[in-house]
Amino acid sequence: MKNKKFYLETYGCQMNEYDSHLVESLLTSAGFEKTEDEKGADIVILNTCSVRQHAEERALGRIRSISSAGKRQEIAVIGCMAQRMGDELLSVNSDVKYVLGTDSFYKIAEILESGNGSHIVDISCRDEPFDYESKPSGQSLSDYVTIMRGCDNFCSYCIVPYVRGRERCRPPERIVEEINRLDQNGRKEIWLLGQNVNSYKFDSMDFSALLGNVLENTEIPRIRFLTSHPKDFSQALIERMASDKRICKGIHLPMQSGSDAVLKKMNRKYTAGEYLDKIRKLREAISDVVITTDIIVGFPGESEDDFRRTLDMVEEIEYDSAFMFRYSVRSGTRAEKFGDDIPEEVKLERLDQLIRLQKRISEKKMAAQIGRLQTVLLERTAKQSAQDARGKNDGGLNVVARGGSKYLGEFADVEIKSSSYSTLVGEIAGRQE
Ligand code: 5AD
Ligand code: SF4
Repeated sequence: MKNKKFYLETYGCQMNEYDSHLVESLLTSAGFEKTEDEKGADIVILNTCSVRQHAEERALGRIRSISSAGKRQEIAVIGCMAQRMGDELLSVNSDVKYVLGTDSFYKIAEILESGNGSHIVDISCRDEPFDYESKPSGQSLSDYVTIMRGCDNFCSYCIVPYVRGRERCRPPERIVEEINRLDQNGRKEIWLLGQNVNSYKFDSMDFSALLGNVLENTEIPRIRFLTSHPKDFSQALIERMASDKRICKGIHLPMQSGSDAVLKKMNRKYTAGEYLDKIRKLREAISDVVITTDIIVGFPGESEDDFRRTLDMVEEIEYDSAFMFRYSVRSGTRAEKFGDDIPEEVKLERLDQLIRLQKRISEKKMAAQIGRLQTVLLERTAKQSAQDARGKNDGGLNVVARGGSKYLGEFADVEIKSSSYSTLVGEIAGRQE
């Protein structure tokens, strides 16, 4: 089985990207070879997402269209959709041979090695702490480190707790070790990942204490984290963010809706007022903090008035950017029982209105950066010109630095000269050692 080539494709969130990296690391350690050439691969692996129906449809379409074109090519479906659909996936394409769920994918090397012609579906759930070690690979400057898996929140629309299981936190010393390994391999920024990092708990260590531990025991210059649940977003964390330059001043704080009635039905456990209060405290402590969010429109029962409240909140808060979604029924969730009563055209109209509002706000906020100096980690050459470099400022906004490609991999001070709703453009004003 050695020296077989695998091709790996990833759908969905950053957690899946992290897991794909782990799969790559497990397989290459076992002697498999990664290829970017799908047709030349012996095994095509799809790491899938179930969060919305659209994500599943895309992956199903892909699975159907993979054709071995004469060569014996096997398909492995892993991740959330594998966990949710199990052996149903075997009938999507006769080349699907392995279906490995969110707690089984780490066995992938043994499973592929022992392949004896039979189909293998493993969606067993082990609700025990996980700790798999991945080898850093590639040249990127920024990487992910998972600090917890699963979710206990059961927001009524969300499939994640069902496909990723209960919350399990990783020991702080293993997190620190992984960050230090990435640092030694040239990373300058790490993202601490979890479905709800704010509920991290290991013995007596909570998330803000974990950040303190990471600051003390690593030298990684930039630390970001994702995702925060507003109900657990604490004053201690705000103070921790404000107190250390290495913690980036950007936060993703999904609001989901601006209506108390909808938030209650969503089981989000906060009101719009409480959410606003946290935003105010955050801005009091860190005036230039970059705030992004997730919003769902067309949740069951969402009235015009509920939707108006969402628009009002967006107008009041002025997010730097937002991910906005139409509600998508997920089978087995609590919201499935509420029915899907908002017609598709109403969902689309609301989404369109919200996107237009947010775009206007993003444009205005980005334009306010013109003339300011931003510290940017120059990560890659810009698409438009090989002389320019792209990166993120401290808050996480995208910046193109004119003439920056000479300094790739470095932090630079960039003076912002122009902007669009999604990108700032500026000139190098200085470099940071
Ligand atoms: N329908 C639409 N959007 C959803 N999300 C999660 N579940 C659903 C669903 N059933 C969105 C939420 C979440 C983001 C990752 O995806 O906004 O924060
Ligand atoms: Fe889903 Fe809510 Fe958990 Fe996020 S916090 S993963 S939206 S259940």
